[in-house]
Amino acid sequence: MLVREDLNVPLKDGAIADDTRVRAALPTLRGLLEKGAKVIVMSHLGRPKGRPAPEFTLRPVADRLRDLLGREVSFAEDCVGEPARTAAARLGEGQLVLLENVRFHPGEEANDRDFARQLAELGEIFVNDAFAASHRAHASVVGVAEFLPAYAGDLMLAELEALHRALDEPRRPLVAIVGGAKVSSKAGVLRFLLPKVDALLVGGAMANTFFKADGKEVGASYVEDEALQETRAVAEMGGDRLVLPIDTVCAPKMEAGQPTRVFPAGEIEPGWMILDIGPETSALFAERVRAAGTVVWNGPLGVFEIPEFSEGTKAVAEAVANSDAFSLLGGGDTAAAVEQMGMAGSFSHVSTGGGATLEYMEGKELPGVAVLKEAEG
Ligand code: 3PG
Repeated sequence: MLVREDLNVPLKDGAIADDTRVRAALPTLRGLLEKGAKVIVMSHLGRPKGRPAPEFTLRPVADRLRDLLGREVSFAEDCVGEPARTAAARLGEGQLVLLENVRFHPGEEANDRDFARQLAELGEIFVNDAFAASHRAHASVVGVAEFLPAYAGDLMLAELEALHRALDEPRRPLVAIVGGAKVSSKAGVLRFLLPKVDALLVGGAMANTFFKADGKEVGASYVEDEALQETRAVAEMGGDRLVLPIDTVCAPKMEAGQPTRVFPAGEIEPGWMILDIGPETSALFAERVRAAGTVVWNGPLGVFEIPEFSEGTKAVAEAVANSDAFSLLGGGDTAAAVEQMGMAGSFSHVSTGGGATLEYMEGKELPGVAVLKEAEG
């Protein structure tokens, strides 16, 4: 059984800084092992650009998998060739091998047919569980499906079901919360969500660009000047459904230990910059969330890494966690924010996808999902 997981975990000084993605892979792997499958796991880690790079080895992930699964996990020094073939041939029923980083070969990102065939020769069935990598048309995500019968793993199914439930068949009202720094990187998401939602609450630095586009005073706040026209078009499209902050927490600099002041939105004094939504906005957003049947959230509402500017994101996260709404959180920073707050377990679904979730929320077809649908017939 050849399984693609996304075990692309953040590393700090060579150690795993957050093993959420390893844990998320466990249900599929456990399920297969318990059925006696011989499990060969492929993944990428980082962006090594088609060459072996020791800092991107998956070896620490093999160790973590061993601890979490509570059973022996072997590691193959290469994902193709002799090391991979030998490791795969040695597997007994109910045993697992993790192959070294598929991105150590240029054929992975090029979706090279011969490289995909070499991977496919290691197994008889392909299971794609790597939702978070499914926006990449790479050999281990897409190419191998040409050579093997392809199925979705449990995590892949859970991710797709949650997105489908939230966006295609939502219990209403459907409230979306979108934060983050740039309108330009979220414009596709805003345009995709606006026709579907009952309300779209905007926070994060991108709200500053909406204020400036509307001629409001933003002081020294970060504004994406090159996106002002696009922002006006999105605001027009959103009409009353677009809800902007009504007050903001500001400081002279984006640093811990700075004095803070709350200004009404659009009335920021010179020398002050917006770094979080204000208390009245938190209350307003919380009220909208309490009345929601479904909440979709992408992007933090302030500079959550700095305690002084994390209150807005925290207050809204608490409101979502305590609401009866079906809640779907997606995008790397949002997951990191609720993880930092110790609240990751408080939502209906926290997506493991960063770019993949964003592309889904832009209405794009994910190539790694498309090949599974083709295989399904
Ligand atoms: C991610 O972290 O979003 C996925 O693992 C994909 O990684 P990539 O952006 O390097 O392709």
